[in-house]
Formats: sequence, structure tokens, C-alpha cells
Amino acid sequence: MRSHFCGELNESHVDQDISLCGWVHRRRDHGGVIFLDVRDRDGIAQVVYDPDTVESFEVAEGVRSEFVVLVKGIVRLRPEGTVNREMPTGEIEVLGKELRVLSAAETPPMQLDEYSEVGEDVRLRYRYLDLRRPEMAAKLRFRSKVGNIIRNFLDSNGFLDIETPLLTKATPEGARDYLVPSRTNPNKFFALPQSPQLFKQILMVSGMDRYYQIAKCFRDEDLRADRQPEFTQIDVETSFMDENQIMEIMEAMISHTFESMLGVQLGEFPRITYAEALRRFGSDKPDLRIDMEFVDISDLMRSVDFKVFSGPANDENSRVVALNVPGASGLSRKVIDDYAEFVGVYGAKGLAWIKINDLSKGVEGLQSPILKFMSEDVIESLLAKLSAKTGDIIFFGADKAKIVNEALGALRVKVAEDLGLIREGWAPLWVIDFPMFEQTSDGNLTSLHHPFTAPACHVGQLNKDPVSALSRAYDMVLNGTELGGGSIRINASEMQRAVFKVLGIDDSEAQEKFGFLLDALSYGCPPHGGIAFGLDRLVMLMTDSSSIRDVIAFPKTQSASCPLTEAPGVVSNTQLRELNIRLRDSKPSEKLN
Ligand code: AMO
Ligand code: AMP
Repeated sequence: MRSHFCGELNESHVDQDISLCGWVHRRRDHGGVIFLDVRDRDGIAQVVYDPDTVESFEVAEGVRSEFVVLVKGIVRLRPEGTVNREMPTGEIEVLGKELRVLSAAETPPMQLDEYSEVGEDVRLRYRYLDLRRPEMAAKLRFRSKVGNIIRNFLDSNGFLDIETPLLTKATPEGARDYLVPSRTNPNKFFALPQSPQLFKQILMVSGMDRYYQIAKCFRDEDLRADRQPEFTQIDVETSFMDENQIMEIMEAMISHTFESMLGVQLGEFPRITYAEALRRFGSDKPDLRIDMEFVDISDLMRSVDFKVFSGPANDENSRVVALNVPGASGLSRKVIDDYAEFVGVYGAKGLAWIKINDLSKGVEGLQSPILKFMSEDVIESLLAKLSAKTGDIIFFGADKAKIVNEALGALRVKVAEDLGLIREGWAPLWVIDFPMFEQTSDGNLTSLHHPFTAPACHVGQLNKDPVSALSRAYDMVLNGTELGGGSIRINASEMQRAVFKVLGIDDSEAQEKFGFLLDALSYGCPPHGGIAFGLDRLVMLMTDSSSIRDVIAFPKTQSASCPLTEAPGVVSNTQLRELNIRLRDSKPSEKLN
């Protein structure tokens, strides 16, 4: 039907007969002439109908927004003074000769021709309309290209695209599983994979050597702006490479993607240990576009007459940290109180501060609720240690290290956002040397990554002091978002059993849950490792989208449902009976909503 996409028309097509297929983006009646902006996936072209072409003029009078039309006409330059430089096709227009309505449309529930602030619930309910918006179409196109670039990169580096099952057994990645009941095995359930982790390792045992998959993953967890219950990983595994080789090739893949799509050179990625990241930024995914860093001041605060500081300063599990915000001494009391409330969410019991109104006046030039607790010597050493300047404000956190890290780590980002202290551009890095385990509030140990991550020590050392054991894991972080994570894996069943034991999984449970992996490890398992990137997150960052939902065609809401299809839905009693399932409540959907 069509000879050209709307968006591709330009001066080179002048005088050509063309045909376009698309949606009426806007119709303007200029008394005697009708302008139709016709839109397709690639852009918008202006078509003009004048009364000379009687038949098509009449059709043009009757079309409305979002009608699907077939346009035939001749391309011509726009008359002087009507060129639109904002539009890629703004130099030309189409003189319409024929117009056919292929499909009429109801008045849409949202405006597509202007970026009106429509609620996301409406956008998701009418996603097919939302995706017609050029901005959304551009994001999906961008995503498609990113996927292609990555596939080509991995293919040319010898990685094989291998599919792994979606109906499978639980893969522990720290979230709840989505379960699928089995009709043929009554009372048994499949789990949808949280990642292809176990299968990709087994593919290494099979000798596939290099695997990748653009894989759907499912995690029933609390949703945020950068999390979806169903999301896509660029999942990679390779044999006979160490962590440095894996990081190198993956860095090349991401750099190549940025260069191809955005013309951006990311340069070499710095590597920072987990301990250093927490010490300097309070976070294992630091945003390096922000220059502010934590300064530990425990040494200065050990003997001050302020329990709030001296207590944590003398406790090995706590820290006292200062964060100097340059040029922010003008912050109002109200804003500071709001920040105190903000850090309270992370468990901080307060937010002490010092404003440096005039450094040259010594203590007289400072303003703070805590000066009274400190000697002049301590204050002077503090200012020197922080290189504080007139006009700065210093915030303090004193508590258990975890609380200080989370609270001031989040404050660092928030203040930088509020005050415009985030540099433009891209700041990628690798975080390495993660601990193997972290302690939960009830004192048990859980994996910081997943239980298949290799420790950087021997079995004996791991058993002796699991809390101090480091892993061979690495995360790629970009602008404060964890883009990907991976590790060298355990390739010996003895070590795998030892790790399970630390996690409180005894031999029989290990056999029941992961027996197939333990068996596989005992039949000649090469040293191997890999990584997975969040494709949605990557595209979200690259397109500067504020939500992961904007780069997914059909995303779920905050409550993990789909307004378009109204999934999850109620199922019939017949289906339930076939699955041997009896519901506890006759109206589960009402109860859950
Ligand atoms: P991990 O759990 O770190 O590792 O996941 C890898 C990457 O997937 C993305 N991601 C998500 N994106 C959107 N919504 C979610 N709910 C979500 N959860 C994770 C993140 C994250 O960095 N099997 C290991 C990888 C490996 O060891 O090779 C794994 O899944 O960008
Ligand atoms: P107070 O004497 O308890 O009123 O505290 C003096 C200042 O210290 C106030 O600005 C509090 O917000 C702040 N503060 C209290 N607890 C902490 C803490 N754990 N870390 C940082 N500042 C705190």
C-alpha cells in the first residue's frame, strides 16, 4: 500500500508520486484547504487537500484524529514562510490527490498530538494509543536496536544464543517466585525463573563454552522505578575466562553499544572495591557524577562531649561521617528539617549540620546545633579535614555503619539532585571484591549475590570465617544504577556444599533443590563465570527515561498488574479443578486488590 514512511520524506522526493499509510495525527481546516498531519512509526508528514480534488476533499472533511488513512499525492516544497524547522519533514508537504479511510476511530481517551500530562493508569490501560506517541515509538525502536547491537557483538565474539526453560524449578536470586501449577503432576508447581542462572552454568558443563540469551526473568518483589516483576536480562556465561577477562569483554560490549547508539565514548571503567564504595559513598552503586564524598571523622569524635557522636565513634560496627555540601549554607531550616526526615526513613535518628557562613571568623562564623558539644580544636581539625569553605554546609551521620551508609548515601544523591550538583554525562564503574555473605537482622547469613558465586578463598577458610570471606563477584554500575552483576562460579561440588551449609541449607535440602547442579558439577565442570545486565535498565538510562515502564511495551503497574489485559485474572472452577487447586476464599481477586 505504501511507497514511503511519513518520516522519511524530504526535499529529494519533491515532484514524486507517493503513497503513505498512517494515522491522522491532527486535522486542521483552514477554510478552503484541509491539512492532515499523517503519522506512522517513523514520523509525521503534512498532507494538504484543496477543494479542486473534490472527492478526496470531502473525505478529508470527514476524517478525525486517529483514523487510519491511505494517502496518495505529490511531494512539493512548502511555500515560503511555512517551513517548519522543528519537524524532520518540515521542508516539504504532500499535495493530496487521493484519500481513503482504512479504519475509523473513536475519540481517543487521551490526546496524542500534544504531550498532555495523562495519568499513567490511562496510558497503560490504552497502551496501544500511548505507544503511538512518537516519543514512545522512538523508545521501542531504540530498544530494538540496542538488542541487535548486543546480539551482533556477542555473536561475533563466539557466544551462542541458547534458550532455557521458563517452566522450571526455583532459581534463588533473592526474590519470591512466580509459581505455575502443573496439571499433569497434581500438587506440584513449576517456578518461573528469576534468572537462567542454573541452566547457563549447566550449559558450561555441557561444553557450550560461551552462551548468551536475551532472557525474560520473573521476580515477585517490591517494585520501584527501576524494577519490574517481569524484566529482560542480557544473560551471559563463559568457560575458561577469569573475572578480568569477563569484565573486559563486557565493558567492551557496553562501550560499543553506547558508541553505536549515542556516539558516546565511555572510556575505561574504574574499579572500586565494595568496601571502598561504602566508605566513600555509603553505597555499592555509587553515582560518580557527584563529587561529594563521605569523610570519616570517628577519630576526631571519640572524646567529644556528645554521646550521639562519641558512642558510634568508639564502636567498631558504627561510624561517624561528615558530608560537605559545597555552596549550600543558604539552605533554609525547613529544607534541613525535610532532609532530617528523609534520612529518618533509613533509620537515622537525626541529622546534625554545621553551616560555614564565614570561615575567616572562626567559630563565630559557624552556625550549628552541635557546636556547643565540641572544643575549638576539634572544630578546627574537622573543618581542615573536610577542606570546608565559606558557603558550605556539612551534614553528619553517626550510627551503626549500615544506617549511616544508607541514610547519608541516599542524602548525598538527593541533595545533589536538589541542588543541581550532578555532572552531565556518564559515569560507569565496576564494583568488585564483594563479601560472600551478609548478615540478616536475625543473625543468619544470606548470599550477597547468589549461592553459586565462587568465594575468593578455600573451603577451609570459608568454613572458619564465612563473614569475612570475599567473593569473585563484580557489578557494573552506571550513574548510580546497578546495570549488571555477575561472578566466577563455584565449579566443585565440595565448595558448593560448603556454601550451602553456611547458608543453612543442609545436604538433603541441597540435594532436593539443586541436586541436578551438584550432580553436574561432579561430571567435569570447567571453570566458568558470567554476568547479566538488565536490558530494561540499560535502555532506560540510555534514553534518559524516568521509569523502566517507559521502555517496556507492556509493563506492569506498581502492584504488579496489567491495566490493559487486567491480568492477573480470575480463573474458572473447571480450570482450578483440573489443577487440583481449591481457593481459600471464593473472591480472591477482590481480597487482593
Ligand atoms: P542480578 O540479580 O544482579 O543477577 O540481576 C542482573 C541484573 O538484572 C537487572 N534486574 C532487574 N531489572 C528490572 N527489574 C527487576 N526486578 C530486576 N532485577 C534485576 C539489574 C541487575 O543488575 N544470575 C545473576 C547474574 C549472574 O550472576 O550472571 C542475576 O540474575 O540490572
Ligand atoms: P540533640 O542534642 O539530640 O538535639 O541533637 C543535636 C543534633 O544532632 C540535631 O541536629 C540532631 O538532628 C542531630 N543528631 C541526632 N542524632 C544524630 C545521629 N545519629 N546522626 C547525626 N546527627 C544526629
